[in-house]
Amino acid sequence: MPLLLPPFTLHRNADTRADAPMTREMRALRVRLLRAQDLPSVAALRHEVLATLQHPDCYVREADEASFMRLHHPPHGETIGVFSGDVMVAYAMLGLPEVGHPDNLGAALGLSPEGRKAVAHLSSCMVRPAWRGLGLQRTLLGTRLALARSRGRHLCAAVVSLHNHSSRHNMLRRGLHVAGVELVDGLRRQITLIDLDHGLQVDQADQEFVDSDDFIGQRDAVSRGYVGVGEVRGPQQVRLRFVRRLDRQVVPL
Ligand SMILES: CC(C)(COP(=O)(O)OP(=O)(O)OC[C@H]1O[C@@H](n2cnc3c(N)ncnc32)[C@H](O)[C@@H]1OP(=O)(O)O)[C@@H](O)C(=O)NCCC(=O)NCCS
Repeated sequence: MPLLLPPFTLHRNADTRADAPMTREMRALRVRLLRAQDLPSVAALRHEVLATLQHPDCYVREADEASFMRLHHPPHGETIGVFSGDVMVAYAMLGLPEVGHPDNLGAALGLSPEGRKAVAHLSSCMVRPAWRGLGLQRTLLGTRLALARSRGRHLCAAVVSLHNHSSRHNMLRRGLHVAGVELVDGLRRQITLIDLDHGLQVDQADQEFVDSDDFIGQRDAVSRGYVGVGEVRGPQQVRLRFVRRLDRQVVPL
């Protein structure tokens, strides 16, 4: 039975990276929703990626990986795999948490039960080193947003390490904003969010810049009603742009 997925198109041409895989190989990438029999391939990809992290905080391995992976298969969620031939080169997970589940990120963001019902988690995404910088994470983000919407979830949230510049950049670029800055399982994390139905109202003129690794400064900005919507990338440091939000949507309309 064919699996229905939103269109998957890489936005960037392989020519933009000197050591990029051949364009022909990129054109031949196949994408599908994964099933239980794919779990060993996911585990192998994770093993390779986690052994070569640029910063150890970018991804902290879950205590129970097997159960984490199972939680991203139906009925709890989905995992999308990208394949070159038989080799999985990337995956991305979508979680569909129960409204009352303690890990539902809607709780950390102060959403009502009604809001939490609409939450989807943009969970783990990993790309094999040889396939990075080609827009796979960005593309898989768009695919997961469409998939979440098709499952009736219009509030998509993710947890991001302050050191994970690629993930944060891709999320901000795709319209998510930094809505929370919290300790999640004891780790300093940003919680990013997008409301696919209602967007975000902000006062663009009321802005502040905070260093991307300044946990306290970002938490303070959020506590005063600001949200992170952009970044200024310098040679040494990335600064995040926070703007004042004009409304606080607690219950989806
Ligand atoms: C994070 C990861 C998934 C990115 O995958 P990828 O397919 O190479 O990412 P993309 O090619 O889609 O995007 C990378 C983007 O980050 C940007 N970026 C890189 N370094 C950056 C920095 N210091 N500041 C801002 N943006 C940065 C790139 O410019 C690019 O954006 P652009 O296309 O607009 O120029 C991959 O590096 C990975 O698997 N890392 C280890 C696991 C992990 O951290 N997963 C994410 C958490 S779940």
